[in-house]
Amino acid sequence: MSLTFIGKTETERLLITDAFIEECDELQEICETWDDKKLMEGEDFEPGYIRKCLTEGDLPPIPGASKENYRLKSFHLKESGRLIGFTDLYFGYPTEKTAWISIFLISKVHRKEGFAQEAIEAISTECIRAGFDQIGIGVYLKNLRGLRFWIKAGFREVTGISADAGNGENAFALIRLIKKLR
Ligand SMILES: CC(C)(COP(=O)(O)OP(=O)(O)OC[C@H]1O[C@@H](n2cnc3c(N)ncnc32)[C@H](O)[C@@H]1OP(=O)(O)O)[C@@H](O)C(=O)NCCC(=O)NCCS
Repeated sequence: MSLTFIGKTETERLLITDAFIEECDELQEICETWDDKKLMEGEDFEPGYIRKCLTEGDLPPIPGASKENYRLKSFHLKESGRLIGFTDLYFGYPTEKTAWISIFLISKVHRKEGFAQEAIEAISTECIRAGFDQIGIGVYLKNLRGLRFWIKAGFREVTGISADAGNGENAFALIRLIKKLR
């Protein structure tokens, strides 16, 4: 099913394309702009995170998970070509007709301009076109800014929740949300 997901999508202000290896350093720099990630999720990005996504994929914990079903997508401003963010997608997790997002990030200087909503809308439309029934994400409950974004984007059905023991600053809870597409 992933093969029907087209490589390039345009929105009013963005061009969304498959990320390529030459963008690796720039994408990793965008990762570093998420300066409160450790506070939200308990750990920063690994230095080689983007390279790993591009070479091996960030695959879900299922037997037979394959890089073939994984995509890293770059968001470029149409006007200037500037790279401002990215997301990934795994086609077929946890169900065959679910597209799963494990990361979605807009560079800090370009947040609060509506680019994130514009990108997720386009990705949702493309997932519908490709035959998916839903999109899923996992978000840490300390990430209120992220939660607010996902809820506003229509990810409102809870399909799972887990929490660490204790209430300390190093304890975290993760919620899995889906957006029904049809
Ligand atoms: C979560 C994240 C992707 C949201 O990005 P964003 O670009 O700020 O999100 P939005 O497109 O929804 O815009 C946010 C706000 O800007 C406002 N805004 C400002 N100018 C706007 C414009 N021109 N058009 C539309 N909205 C605009 C929106 O109304 C919205 O405000 P609200 O939340 O009070 O309703 C971003 O904060 C981020 O990358 N965070 C770090 C990574 C992360 O947490 N990812 C999610 C978990 S994986």
